[in-house]
Amino acid sequence: MAIPTIHVGCTHFARGRLQALVNCKGFYPVACVDINLDAAQEGLESLEGDLPEGLGNRIYTTITEARERHHAEVCLIYASTPVHAKLVVESLNLGLHTLCVKPIATTPDEFREIIRVRKAHPDLMLVQGQNKRWNPAASKMREWLRGSDGIGEMLGGECRFWIRQNLWRADNSLYPDAYVEGIFFHAATAHQLDQLVAAKGLPRYVTACVHQREDHEIARTGVWGTAGGQALLEYPNGAPFCYTGTNASHANPFGWSGHWTFHGENGDIRRDAGHLQLFRKGECVEDCQLQDLHPGLIEDDRLQFDAFADALSTGKNQEWLQETTLGTWILMEACNRSARTGTRVDVERLRAELMDL
Ligand SMILES: NC(=O)c1ccc[n+]([C@@H]2O[C@H](COP(=O)([O-])OP(=O)(O)OC[C@H]3O[C@@H](n4cnc5c(N)ncnc54)[C@H](O)[C@@H]3O)[C@@H](O)[C@H]2O)c1
Repeated sequence: MAIPTIHVGCTHFARGRLQALVNCKGFYPVACVDINLDAAQEGLESLEGDLPEGLGNRIYTTITEARERHHAEVCLIYASTPVHAKLVVESLNLGLHTLCVKPIATTPDEFREIIRVRKAHPDLMLVQGQNKRWNPAASKMREWLRGSDGIGEMLGGECRFWIRQNLWRADNSLYPDAYVEGIFFHAATAHQLDQLVAAKGLPRYVTACVHQREDHEIARTGVWGTAGGQALLEYPNGAPFCYTGTNASHANPFGWSGHWTFHGENGDIRRDAGHLQLFRKGECVEDCQLQDLHPGLIEDDRLQFDAFADALSTGKNQEWLQETTLGTWILMEACNRSARTGTRVDVERLRAELMDL
């Protein structure tokens, strides 16, 4: 049975997530939340499909007000990045299972506050929304990294990502991705490396640097940690993994999914977005072109919401969903800490600092 859900954020990218909620089977929207009521109303009117009757009359400016008036068990948060942490805290304190799009927090203090509240509600699920691990191409890569028919133990790998992302809004204001320090790892790299964490968990150590590139045409204004970054991840078995990413580049060859190679005990993987190849003993033994990200990412979020609903209803993958998506936040923060301090960061120690409160 579908689970009653409050949806936060009804315009721009958030509006598409509301469409994904309408499209999914596991949840249904009982109320919406947005500080801009008129724009939210317009957002709702533009949705397609079977909307619950009267949803347009159930838009509120806070989650608390929505929850006071309607029974709900889940809250999906797609408001602007700087308000994520306070909305996650509000949602958990209202007793709602919560999924908040990455990054759920923008500083370690915000993250610790979330974890403190989560510990006070151990029966609630808390997930960082990571919509790019669900499409068939990402799922295939995960299967080859984890399954018995894949590459076996990972011995090394790399991911390269580049895109030209314009962070000016139509009204000449800036997206938070242009001015929140250290947001590149949390908001861009998270899209790729979440797929690695989902398959292989957290590395033992991270050493990272950020790019200081300025390109005012696309709102690269020189704020620390917003233009791009590189990282060396070392896994507990000694396997190194290299990451290079920038969204101040001139082309977009493999989009948000990037280009990957992996070396393993039993084989190697090459992936360019939706094109994946598995090699063994010098031969390509599997070559497939699979659906990568869907246009508008609505289907990607529909898949994510149904997986979250399934975890709540059946218990399946609950721990994996929570621990790996929060783990991605910790890994991104480890990159920032390493880049700020010029040191190799012990990821397990940072995880304990942020989680064992
Ligand atoms: N996962 C992805 O692929 C992906 C892609 C793009 C954007 N995002 C993220 O999704 C989020 C939403 O993006 P957007 O472009 O729609 O953002 P936005 O800034 O346009 O905000 C979305 C809505 O949230 C509302 N809002 C702002 N503060 C609020 C508050 N305190 N309470 C309730 N509503 C509030 C705004 O009025 C707006 O209607 C951002 O965090 C963004 O980084 C994720």
